[in-house]
Amino acid sequence: MARKFFVGGNFKMNGSISSIKEIVNNLNKADLDPNTEVVISPPALYLLLVREHLRPEIEVAAQNVFDKPNGAYTGEISVSQLQDSNITWTILGHSERRTILNESDELVASKTKVATEAGVGVIWCCGESLEQREAGKTIEVVSKQLEALKAQISDWSKVVIAYEPIWAIGTGKVATTEQAQEVHKAIRDWLKGVSDKVAEETRILYGGSVNEKNCGELSKQPDIDGFLVGGASLKPAFVDIINAKKQ
Ligand SMILES: *[C@@H]1O[C@H](CO)[C@@H](O)[C@H](O)[C@H]1NC(C)=O
Ligand SMILES: *[C@@H]1O[C@H](CO)[C@@H](O)[C@H](O)[C@H]1NC(C)=O
Repeated sequence: MARKFFVGGNFKMNGSISSIKEIVNNLNKADLDPNTEVVISPPALYLLLVREHLRPEIEVAAQNVFDKPNGAYTGEISVSQLQDSNITWTILGHSERRTILNESDELVASKTKVATEAGVGVIWCCGESLEQREAGKTIEVVSKQLEALKAQISDWSKVVIAYEPIWAIGTGKVATTEQAQEVHKAIRDWLKGVSDKVAEETRILYGGSVNEKNCGELSKQPDIDGFLVGGASLKPAFVDIINAKKQ
C-alpha cells in the first residue's frame, strides 16, 4: 500500500479572524493535488471558524489536546470536544510544547494514546536540538521519544510522525535533503521493531523551515511522506508546498 502524501499546516499562535479567513479562502479556491492529504491547524480559538468555512476535503487539527475526559481541567480541551466540533486531528509533542511548557515524552505519549484510541489522528512530533545533533545523538534522542510512545500505544494507524529538527524550526536553517532522509530512514527502521506493517504504512513528515523552494527535492526522498509546515502555512506559497509532488 502506497503511503498517501500528507501536508500539515501548523499556524502556531498566529493569525486573527480576518487573516485566518483569508487563508481559508485561498485554500478553498486553490487547485490542490488530490493525491495529497491536507490538514491545517489554527489556534484552538479558531478551530470552529476554520471548520465551518474550509472545503470539506481538507481536515482540521488542534495544536494540542488533553489526556483526560471532560472535567475539572481549566484551560484544556478534551478529545470528545474536538470530535463534537468535527476536528479530526491534533498535533502533539511539538518541540515548542516540549521545551517551553516542559511536556515530557510520557505525557505526549499518554495524550497520543487517548486521542488515537478515540479515533482522532495525531501528528506526533519528534526531533533533536542543535546540541544533541552536534553530539551525534540525533538517532538516540528520536528513538527515546519513539520508545516512550511505543510504551503506551498499540494502534499506530492514526499516527503520523513529524520529524522536526529543533535547530531548523523557524530559523531558516534546513536540514539538507540527505540529513532529513537519513533520520527518516532511521525512524522507519525503528518502526520495523514495532512491525513491518507499521514501518511500511506510517507516514513520516519532515518539518523545519520547509518552503516552496526546497519542498520538491525533499518530497522525492523515499522516506519523506510529506511535511509539517510552520510559518509558510500562513502564506499563499503553502499551496505550492501541498503540490510539492507535482514539481
Ligand atoms: C459536524 O459534521 C456533521 C456532519 O457533517 C454536521 O452535521 C455537524 O453540524 C458538524 N458540527 C459542527 C460543529 O460543525
Ligand atoms: C520548564 O522547566 C524549566 C527548567 O526546569 C523552568 O525554568 C521553567 O519554568 C519550566 N516551565 C514551565 C512552564 O513549567
